[in-house]
Amino acid sequence: MVGQQQQQQHHYHHHHQAVDGKDTASRVVTRVNSQTYQTYQYHLLLVAFVAFLYGLYYQISNVYHEYATRHSKHHHQHDMYFSSFVPSTTSSHAPASSDAKYTRSVFLPYVHRFGTKGVPLVWVTMHGGKEDVRIHMPVDTGSTGLLIGAPLLPGIDPQAGTPGRQYLSSSNIVYVGRYLDLKLTFHGIGDVSAGARVPVLIVDKSWMCPWYDPLKHGFECPLGPEGQHPVERDVSGITYMGVGFGRNKNADGQRTAASWGNPFLNIDSINGTRLRPEEIKAGYVVSTKGIQLGLTRGNTRGYNFMELERGIAHAVDARDWAMPRMQFRVNGQRSIPGSALIDTGIAQMYIRAEDSMPLPEVVIKNPKEGGTPTVQRVKNGTRIAIDFGAWASEELCEVAASYSFEVGQDSMMAPSYVVPGKQEPPPYVNTGRNFLKGCSIAFDAVDGRLGFRPVQRFQSMI
Ligand SMILES: *[C@@H]1O[C@H](CO)[C@@H](O)[C@H](O)[C@H]1NC(C)=O
Ligand SMILES: *[C@@H]1O[C@H](CO)[C@@H](O)[C@H](O)[C@H]1NC(C)=O
Repeated sequence: MVGQQQQQQHHYHHHHQAVDGKDTASRVVTRVNSQTYQTYQYHLLLVAFVAFLYGLYYQISNVYHEYATRHSKHHHQHDMYFSSFVPSTTSSHAPASSDAKYTRSVFLPYVHRFGTKGVPLVWVTMHGGKEDVRIHMPVDTGSTGLLIGAPLLPGIDPQAGTPGRQYLSSSNIVYVGRYLDLKLTFHGIGDVSAGARVPVLIVDKSWMCPWYDPLKHGFECPLGPEGQHPVERDVSGITYMGVGFGRNKNADGQRTAASWGNPFLNIDSINGTRLRPEEIKAGYVVSTKGIQLGLTRGNTRGYNFMELERGIAHAVDARDWAMPRMQFRVNGQRSIPGSALIDTGIAQMYIRAEDSMPLPEVVIKNPKEGGTPTVQRVKNGTRIAIDFGAWASEELCEVAASYSFEVGQDSMMAPSYVVPGKQEPPPYVNTGRNFLKGCSIAFDAVDGRLGFRPVQRFQSMI
């Protein structure tokens, strides 16, 4: 239903723009009527000429739009296309609230250099009961909510909190423990700090549980379909910080899988001084350099924004937005639109095509110990191109960013490998973290927009 409403809004916008154009033209003609006959003729010619130019421009821009939408299949490697390169009728019209009034922002550099291997980390002090603990926390845009092993927060009473659990489907891991509201301090560049208070799952037990179903199973990993015993994990090393959006589809039992559990959207102080809500714009930029908390006019400059649809909890929390829309092509064949996830938590890509769409697959020996003996991969040589943008009439109508790569070819934005996804329809793609090597993203939780900005060559060489 939400999708339908958005579609109609989109159509309205398009028509509205066209009507605006005509209005301007007729006002010119009306004014011309009061002129003398000679100037009238002259003006009429001018108006005709302007109208002709306008028509020509309109046609050209439509052609450009088509071009931008279809283009990437002809390209190699990690090329990106932005509709800001296209005349303005197709550029993003996602509304921005007046960003000028938001001035506060804190930059969190990563602990290690960003790379294909390893989730990016930031420094955080956890204020846990009687003891503060300074640790580095992984920044995972593929989930929402904080998880931390109980042994890491010795100051917290082992009985405190309310029982809870979380399941991360991309890694098949179940976490069981207690929810507690905790204060965190993020450590930014130049000793600046940013504070947040969010519910955290203190993990008492965890299992590797590929057969776990969050809707059926509870606070334990059951025996597997062939009677397998689940593998219990050491909880003393568990730190996970989910900062993604649109991840609350199976929110059953996951109290923190929404904006109120996202520490990056709940920054309430800088350097210990409380912020008024109108001082900081809930949202963040993710790049290969670090995290910029709080959007300002300055730090979103150059981003090409697309509108996001409302998230399922939007009525409860207006900062809840759905995953961005995308459409992909596999060896030139176009999918129907689906959703995308730009996930800093993984190096590989997951791609789920329609059942009728050929996705060349191979079965290989599982490179990891302990899992199934074989695993499926998308075949080397497969060309994948992805367009991100708003959706209308079963088509992507405005492309905010695109990229493409060939599976198995070493290119900047290509994932380390590609796994054919098996989740329910519609199509879905998880790009993995290498997407950020070519493109930074800005999530605006106030206006419901996602922005893309290509990484400049000179920046990526620093
Ligand atoms: C925060 O505090 C640090 C030192 O404690 C100081 O260098 C910095 O300028 C302060 N920043 C803000 C935004 O108040
Ligand atoms: C694909 O190609 C890469 C690089 O040449 C190679 O390392 C990898 O094993 C290949 N994968 C498959 C599934 O064939």
